[in-house]
Amino acid sequence: MEQLKLNLDQIKAFVTESELLDLQEETIKCLKILEDRTGEGNDFTGWQDLPSTIAPELIEDINSTARSMHESMDAVVVIGIGGSYLGARAIISALSHQFMAQAGDHKDPLILFAGHNIGEDYIYELLEVLDKKEYGIVVISKSGTTTEPALAFRIIKNHLEAKYGKENAAGRIIAITDKQKGALRTLADRSGYKTFVIPDDTGGRFSALTPVGLLPVAAAGFNINELIRGALAMENATYSSIPFKENPATLYAAARNSLYRKGWKIEILANYDSRMVYFSEWWKQLFAESEGKNLKGIFLASVTYTTDLHSMGQYIQEGERSVFETVLSIASQSKQVLVPVDQEDLDELNYLSGKSINHVNKMAELGTLLAHVDGGVPNIHLEIPALNEYYLGALIYFFEKACAISGYMLGINPFNQPGVEAYKKNMFALLEKPGFEEETRKLKDRLS
Ligand code: PA5
Repeated sequence: MEQLKLNLDQIKAFVTESELLDLQEETIKCLKILEDRTGEGNDFTGWQDLPSTIAPELIEDINSTARSMHESMDAVVVIGIGGSYLGARAIISALSHQFMAQAGDHKDPLILFAGHNIGEDYIYELLEVLDKKEYGIVVISKSGTTTEPALAFRIIKNHLEAKYGKENAAGRIIAITDKQKGALRTLADRSGYKTFVIPDDTGGRFSALTPVGLLPVAAAGFNINELIRGALAMENATYSSIPFKENPATLYAAARNSLYRKGWKIEILANYDSRMVYFSEWWKQLFAESEGKNLKGIFLASVTYTTDLHSMGQYIQEGERSVFETVLSIASQSKQVLVPVDQEDLDELNYLSGKSINHVNKMAELGTLLAHVDGGVPNIHLEIPALNEYYLGALIYFFEKACAISGYMLGINPFNQPGVEAYKKNMFALLEKPGFEEETRKLKDRLS
């Protein structure tokens, strides 16, 4: 994809061109396995066709549901966790006015998130805000049984029903879940909620381009058609028919795996725009849950510069040499602030007067990149022209595709997450959930 620029020049001192090319065949083979659906977890690979197969009727249904939410709500609580939460939060945070909540003059509903933690004060304080809002709920869970969102939904639904009455409240709840299975499906069908379906063949962290991501984003007032258009451009740019060196997904997968195999075990996603913090959270979840298994996988971290140059930057420059960075750069800003002239120049900043803040940020970015490479930190550089729906759609699809290829290169199933069950089993045992009596007894013995 022409407008998404992937530059590998700054890994060349660490991985030679020929070492990268050594992975060409393996990388393409992994992409083909993904496309042919012959690899592990192949029943969860439907996401790869989403941009080209999404039904126009579904998009229209999502957009018209969002329009009716606009008419009756000034806030929407989106309830979900993991892949049922982070895609929407990443896109909405990236596109929203950064002081929207404080400014208080927004025309689109405020999107508030719940169900991604078990914070008692968090939920209490959210209810305090909801007391004063005309609001609705979008509850998202593919399994329909995840504890955190189920707990939040029970509490917020009670609040909504107390505020509007049970019947009117039902008209303000939308459930996004499996088409047949799970407690949320049963509850939604019994209560008459409007529902959207999460496709069987698409797992949570790959579901940003299904109603899971699309409905909250549309409810926030953003253009989901553009999001899908960007993702489609990336789908078309990342088929196995595209030559290795022109396919950003194969190149990125090969680059990070070649670094990993040579001892760089930690990948940091670095951005220079505070709107991208939740995008990094989405990225970390995508790669960590997909790749971190069988005692293998790159450890994922993220930083927001230049803020974190005054904290993590020290470690990255001079700490243990096991870190590489993927810098996610946004070429232009949509607004402009110029540095003013000051007669006295006591702060000695007049050398910057007339320059834009983005220019200063860009020089910080370039200076950091060169310093980190000199310090032994390989840098993969990724640039999009601007932060908008189109490029976010492209980025999401790009990372999903590269992650799946990369997971197959690692020799694991990128589409399951067996490790997340371990904490749940202990938590249920400690909470004395029916069915966990044996585990409860064992844990009590262990802790006594
Ligand atoms: O990527 C995943 O599959 C997970 O992060 C899930 O999305 C997360 O655990 C939430 O699951 P559910 O949608 O079933 O509530």
